[in-house]
Amino acid sequence: MPELFSMHTHTAGELTSANIGEEVCLTGWVDRRRDHGGLIFVDLRDRDGVTQCTFDPDHAGEAFSEAERIRPEWPILVKGRVRVRPEGTANPNMKTGEVEVLVSGIEVLNQAQTPPFAIEDGIDTAEETRLRYRYLDIRRPEVFQALKLRSMFTHAMRNALESRGFIDVETPILTKSTPEGARDYIVPSRNALGSFYALPQSPQLFKQLLMIGGIERYYQIARCFRDEDLRADRQPEFTQVDIEMSFVSEEDILATMEGVFKEVFGKLDIEVPTPLPRIDYQDAMDQYGSDRPDVRFGMKLHDVSDIFANSSFKVFASALENGGVVKAINVKGGGSLSRGDIDKFGAFAMDQGAKGMAWIQYTKEGEIKSAIKKFLSEEELAGLKDALAIEDNDLVLFGADSRALVNEVLGALRLHVAEVMNIPREGHAFLWVVNFPMFKYVEEEGRYAAEHHPFTLPRTDNLDDIENNPEAIGSYSYDFVMDGYEAGGGTLRIHNSDLQMRVLKRLGFSEEKAQEQFGFLLEALSYGAPPHGGIALGLDRICMLLNGSDSIRDVIAFPKTSSGQDTMTGAPDEVSSRQLKELGLSIR
Ligand code: AMO
Ligand code: AMP
Repeated sequence: MPELFSMHTHTAGELTSANIGEEVCLTGWVDRRRDHGGLIFVDLRDRDGVTQCTFDPDHAGEAFSEAERIRPEWPILVKGRVRVRPEGTANPNMKTGEVEVLVSGIEVLNQAQTPPFAIEDGIDTAEETRLRYRYLDIRRPEVFQALKLRSMFTHAMRNALESRGFIDVETPILTKSTPEGARDYIVPSRNALGSFYALPQSPQLFKQLLMIGGIERYYQIARCFRDEDLRADRQPEFTQVDIEMSFVSEEDILATMEGVFKEVFGKLDIEVPTPLPRIDYQDAMDQYGSDRPDVRFGMKLHDVSDIFANSSFKVFASALENGGVVKAINVKGGGSLSRGDIDKFGAFAMDQGAKGMAWIQYTKEGEIKSAIKKFLSEEELAGLKDALAIEDNDLVLFGADSRALVNEVLGALRLHVAEVMNIPREGHAFLWVVNFPMFKYVEEEGRYAAEHHPFTLPRTDNLDDIENNPEAIGSYSYDFVMDGYEAGGGTLRIHNSDLQMRVLKRLGFSEEKAQEQFGFLLEALSYGAPPHGGIALGLDRICMLLNGSDSIRDVIAFPKTSSGQDTMTGAPDEVSSRQLKELGLSIR
């Protein structure tokens, strides 16, 4: 407990029977006030807990009439003596539940309007209302605890990194666009009319420049800005634990991070078994249909194309003929689902882009039910049973199409089924997904994009593949996956100016465009850039998972709504015509 400020002698969460008889002074908010005829009880709340304060007209003097007037959420200061609660009124659920303060004086520090929702845990008030009055929401213990957890995590992270020789360097917020795959937020310049700063999508290029600057081990708790469609795990501004190191191999980076994870999560009593499991990007896609697999439960994707190589079921046959695959997942316990339940899974699969979802149900009685039963041979059924370890009461769901589509559909279906069927996903599971492809083809744009970012080091024996066979090239890249979320990602970087230019060209930049946008980087790389690499952890996502929340808004003090609004301040908002004029802007 830190040293207290002069207004109080104790917090509202610390008095126990050990304090009986002491004269104390507490400050906080009126949590509840109960008028019991002769006596008034006020539960006083601060961030540390709640203490019952008892106003007895014989003891309290003038304070008693003040107690008659006070209302919930008024901040007050009370003085009095700690005493044991009367027989039978102790509250074993509270740390302070054995005692109360018999009040001799009160100071009303301020008044409060009636709050729009109860200041307590577990309320079902709409989030929009809670965010509109976030300062009241933060008074609720569970919100305070979430922010405290985040502070503890960040602090432990700083300690772990500092003790490993990393130094904290701040990088600019008003900067030039750094592509991380989202749209930039831009800020008009008053001095250079018609020019704009971009807010950083990450400190990526600056941390690379720091390596060229000889910093060797850098970290920053960095705010990043990305204008993209928001989801429960995406905010327009979010925080990374951003890290970069020089003269390192991929192994060095992964091992360093594993040591950091072990230390930091360990401080929160979470064991991280190291070395962390590693799974190749393509294996993750094939087995889980996801590049951030939740491995806390099974239901893996199985390729059963071989079994159905000569299938008389035309859906399977034609998928295979077209170079596709037939894959299946085995839903344990699905043998007792109704037809309606299975049809809902089918509808979900079709929402994900599947043309249908064939299934086979194995009832508890050992019966096989399926709309495609008549197309299945004994041999196929036996092969399937073997491949998916099928038992009675199982349900097998199929996808037949191109490999990429089937992986995507069954990967999403696997998570959906786990959710619907309440399959236990307890504890935390950490792993690395490694070796992402360097490039991916973007159909709509008719060009290649970087799978991670354009500064990633290609993994290839033949650099000519950059021009000739880009899809064959892997990369030195790794994502840190926690409980099925992408909790971090990083790469080794290109540290050669010519290679960087080749990659930018492959991504569709002309030489001039590349110079225009990345000239400073290309130039810096030519001044003795060391081999380097790093990672950025999604601090909000990790804290969300540690907090057991399903939205990062729960661990951000002042988050935006899903439409990017701050309903409390009213941002984003219009600006005055004078401001626009100064910036040389007009609104169309
Ligand atoms: P990347 O884009 O993968 O990598 O981001 C790193 C991590 O940041 C988190 N994250 C987000 N969290 C909340 N809201 C968002 N909108 C959001 N976007 C990303 C994720 C993600 O894993 N410069 C590279 C890192 C590097 O190569 O070192 C980068 O930013 O948890
Ligand atoms: P159909 O013969 O088109 O009526 O399909 C028979 C069964 O196959 C239905 O259960 C469909 O949902 C399923 N089905 C159709 N297309 C696919 C597909 N691409 N992958 C898996 N199952 C499919």
